[in-house]
Amino acid sequence: MKLSKFDGRKSKTSKQKFDTRNMLETINLSKTYISDGVGYDALKNINLQIEQGECAAIIGKSGSGKSTLMHLLACLDLPTTGSVSFEGEDYTLLSERGRDALRNHKFGFVFQQFFLNGRETVFENVVLPMRIRGADQYRLTKDAMDALEAVGLKEMEAKRAKDLSGGEKQRVCIARALVGKPQVVFADEPTGNLDSNTSEAIEDMIFRLNKETGITLIIVTHDEDLARKCNRIIELKDGMIVSEQKEKEI
Ligand SMILES: Nc1ncnc2c1ncn2[C@@H]1O[C@H](COP(=O)(O)OP(=O)(O)O)[C@@H](O)[C@H]1O
Ligand SMILES: [Mg+2]
Repeated sequence: MKLSKFDGRKSKTSKQKFDTRNMLETINLSKTYISDGVGYDALKNINLQIEQGECAAIIGKSGSGKSTLMHLLACLDLPTTGSVSFEGEDYTLLSERGRDALRNHKFGFVFQQFFLNGRETVFENVVLPMRIRGADQYRLTKDAMDALEAVGLKEMEAKRAKDLSGGEKQRVCIARALVGKPQVVFADEPTGNLDSNTSEAIEDMIFRLNKETGITLIIVTHDEDLARKCNRIIELKDGMIVSEQKEKEI
């Protein structure tokens, strides 16, 4: 029988094994996509550890496997072989419900496309992850207002999302990613659709949150300037890690 805190049962060993230096860990992680009967190795043998509180950039050319790696780290997909774990909990051993619970409680997401519901208010868009978690109305309102305050949009809670500018929409996405205080925020090309001034403001906000709240950040980007602002750069090529730089080397 599987023992897991995310399956609603207590794991006896995961807490003891967990080390903040490998909060997220992959071991020999590989992903092969099958399309029209043909296999494509999008990731090959990735061994990676992400430390709690780290701000890591995943860079590489289009098609190098960045989004695939992020999806696996974020428990949005499963590997073909190898393992990926959060705080010592191997995703591949969890049930689908367990994986959903892990993702909903521990992770926040910011994507290039906003994925907002334009007809809904800013508030409703932000509280969506809390509704999925089944939070009560008090907790939900408090956390949403905290998150909106963090991104400077407290006054806009009642506006329809469709009436916002691109930069404001991305701030709503960041607020939604932060609601309920996740441990890790995953961002895939978070500023890809924004003009340079707006991008800079959004980046400053993301980095400030990392410094002030200790949230672990994983940012997928092909923007070298954005990557240099992170304290670690992981470069992918053809599904493999080809270089790694830590803060003092960047
Ligand atoms: N669902 C899929 N089915 C088949 N091939 C895919 C799928 N998703 C991604 N790929 C392929 O895997 C490779 C890596 O993709 P991806 O991780 O999206 O790269 P990146 O984010 O670096 O641009 C690409 O060649 C892409 O075409
Ligand atoms: Mg991508």
